[in-house]
Amino acid sequence: MGQIVLKQEGAIAVLSVDRPEALNALSRELVDEMDLLVERVRKDPEIRCLILHSEKNFAAGADIKDMADCDEEAAKAFVFSPTYDKIEELPIPVIAAIEGYALGGGMELAMTADIRIAEKSAKMGFPEVTLGIMPGAGGTIRVPRVTGEAAAKELIFTGDIISAEKAAAIGLVNRISEDGEVLRDAMKLAEKLCRRGPIALAAAKRTIRAGQEEPDWKRGIQIEAENWAKLFNTEDQKEGMKAFLEKRKPEFQNR
Ligand code: CAA
Repeated sequence: MGQIVLKQEGAIAVLSVDRPEALNALSRELVDEMDLLVERVRKDPEIRCLILHSEKNFAAGADIKDMADCDEEAAKAFVFSPTYDKIEELPIPVIAAIEGYALGGGMELAMTADIRIAEKSAKMGFPEVTLGIMPGAGGTIRVPRVTGEAAAKELIFTGDIISAEKAAAIGLVNRISEDGEVLRDAMKLAEKLCRRGPIALAAAKRTIRAGQEEPDWKRGIQIEAENWAKLFNTEDQKEGMKAFLEKRKPEFQNR
């Protein structure tokens, strides 16, 4: 226990892996611990943004030592998706701030974020095929959604570890920070997002997801219109528009 840390600064929570001796490789126990803290974030109405960030290395993947002797049944214990899905489904923006290595299950954790920022010297990839397996925590689903199929296949089939610059070129990360600045940049972005209407942000996040899952784009547009109109039932909409008309900054409620 104690290998996951949740710190809170005002409305921003930062979730970190603290297992430096193994480059923050993710064990089953560690992900169970993460699950409990993600639940805490979900239930805390004061938290408006979550940053995933670990010192020196984001995470070098699932723990290979623990998995090496698994058979099919035992391997199922290393499926981290229930926890990763919970992160993706949080009703607040999630930012991954990537330092050092983000590989395999580590990069799959970063893929649960809405926005990824990597420092210049970060290294990312899905080396699973070099171990005789494939991504198993959402990589084959989330990466093509973000980069398109061809870039995702190249990344996953080669197992290549790529630079932040290459990752940005294929859309795997939104932007690049100077080395040592990525957490600061993520905090700045989080502060900006915390000033936006939290109910509107949650609705936008939900609607973007629904649109991606909806094969009929006209139905997608309809879902958007319904969710948009519902926001007119909120105090935040009244406050946001009133503040604009009164030429002042809005004060939105907690989510
Ligand atoms: N699991 C367990 N231990 C790991 C680890 C991992 N994923 N990654 C690194 N470590 C450990 C190393 O075993 C080493 O421990 P010891 O000192 O006890 O030997 C320590 O961390 C430092 O690592 P290295 O000495 O290897 O450091 P390096 O700088 O030479 O290399 C690296 C860094 C290129 C990231 C290399 O450690 C590496 O290739 N790691 C494995 C990356 C990987 O394949 N990840 C995918 C895992 S599978 C997965 O995630 C499945 C899934 O989809 C859920």
